[in-house]
Amino acid sequence: MCGKTTLQFILLLFTLLIISFSQPALAVDTTNGAKVFDVHCAGCHINGSNIVRRGKNLKLKALKKYEMDSIEAISSIVANGKNNMSAYKDRLSDQEIQDVAAYVLQQAEKGWR
Ligand code: HEC
Repeated sequence: MCGKTTLQFILLLFTLLIISFSQPALAVDTTNGAKVFDVHCAGCHINGSNIVRRGKNLKLKALKKYEMDSIEAISSIVANGKNNMSAYKDRLSDQEIQDVAAYVLQQAEKGWR
């Protein structure tokens, strides 16, 4: 008796597991990325600039030069910080970091217009 309900419960868990894995894990949302950017990044990177270290801005040319022109590279600097830029992994979720990285890349490709 008890064994059957346990089995059903396990089957249910298994089904839920499959459902959750079949969703795209991190669908990026650049609209949300824009919001994160305005709150956390615009203070130093207004319109893709860099008010602290001018050369290390978010324009495509600089991102390419410093090998920051990928979601992975941008997510990594946002999560872990670098020199005068602080780390955001305790303040932003993985999803928010991915979203803001995608937004930065999208804006860079559009020339921040
Ligand atoms: C306190 C100011 C400050 C804030 C706020 C800030 N940054 Fe930065 N950011 C910097 C500085 C300074 C650098 C240069 C780091 C270095 O390489 O020495 C930098 C570098 C970068 C770079 C690499 C640019 C390049 O050309 O190499 C990216 C991408 C970036 N920041 C994205 C972000 C994002 C996204 C946020 C918001 C989550 C953010 N930053 C918040 C100061 C800031």
